[in-house]
Amino acid sequence: MPEQHPALADSAFLKAVRGEPVPHTPVWFMRQAGRSLPEYLAVREGVGMLESCMTPELVVEITLQPVRRYGVDAAIFFSDIVLPLKAVGVDLDIKPGVGPVVAHPVRTLDDVERIPDLTPEHVPYITESVRTLVGELGGTPLIGFAGAPFTVASYLVEGGPSKEHALTKAMMFGAPDVWDALMRKIAGISAAYLEVQVEAGASAVQLFDSWAGALTPRDYREHVMPHSSRVLERIGATGVPRIHFGVGTTNLLGLMGEAGADVVGVDWRTPLDAAIATVGDRSVQGNLDPTLVFAPAEVMTARAAEVIEAGRAARGHVFNLGHGVIPSTDPDQLKRLTDFVQGYALS
Ligand code: CP3
Repeated sequence: MPEQHPALADSAFLKAVRGEPVPHTPVWFMRQAGRSLPEYLAVREGVGMLESCMTPELVVEITLQPVRRYGVDAAIFFSDIVLPLKAVGVDLDIKPGVGPVVAHPVRTLDDVERIPDLTPEHVPYITESVRTLVGELGGTPLIGFAGAPFTVASYLVEGGPSKEHALTKAMMFGAPDVWDALMRKIAGISAAYLEVQVEAGASAVQLFDSWAGALTPRDYREHVMPHSSRVLERIGATGVPRIHFGVGTTNLLGLMGEAGADVVGVDWRTPLDAAIATVGDRSVQGNLDPTLVFAPAEVMTARAAEVIEAGRAARGHVFNLGHGVIPSTDPDQLKRLTDFVQGYALS
């Protein structure tokens, strides 16, 4: 593992993640780099999403944009959960306003076996981007990320974004051997992709299981959790802290913690105090409703104060929205929110 910048020892984000005392509640936003920023739209003009992710100069610039503008306590690496699949040769694209679209959806064991495992040689531009970023960020930690097996499987099996995940769950219920092989394949790719980011200097990682909320606790435990656990265990072996996040996961938060997370990400539908009671001796991240930034500033900050106060009962608390920044968000409101959270007196 690369040597860490000395100022990272004072990082409020890393302290909260480890459950140590903090000077202020640390804050960053999922999707902080993206379409809500005019400077993002400017550098992305005429460049496809996947092409941007494979161009270190753009990855570095886009990752740094929200750090410069907001002064958030952590940077999130600019990439996408389907990037490692693209890197190993899966024919897919990210269509503007739609999301990932896969040319030949995965349905059979043969389809699964045709997907290569990921090695660092597949993603030299990721290593280069992370190394450069870590140098530029100094005392601000970089969060690496990957998609969790279930959420990535949904894109591969459905062939694109899905509300019901019906084909994915049909495979899970009806073709357990194909399902097991697919989940093992993705777990290996996600873990290897995270290891590349950690090896290049990322200070923490987030595993996004955005669509896990489609599952009952029983099916999550039986068919999904063992695979996510393998990813989290491999990263645990590096010593880097792990955040585990999903949407609509009120009934899964305990299991998502047990899967091997240091921090459980909480969406806005679950009251933070209930989440804290469920996850026990782990830190939490979240969970202001992302639409509250469209409310008057005093309404937004009053609700943010409630989140911060609730977070005090946790082992550690990282402030975030309950899901990603909505593209039409006013960046000035996110700046106000960042300043409010960082200026909120904890003593
Ligand atoms: O700022 C950050 O959070 C880092 C960048 C990031 C992106 N995708 C960039 C992106 C992260 C962490 C992701 C993860 C991701 N990608 C997830 C998990 C997080 C979540 O939101 O639950 C998922 C489910 C995906 C798949 C995906 N890729 C979706 C649903 C979309 C949006 C489709 C749309 O256009 O509305 C994408 C495309 C994407 N990924 C964009 C960005 C900035 C928009 C692309 C553009 O600007 O044209």
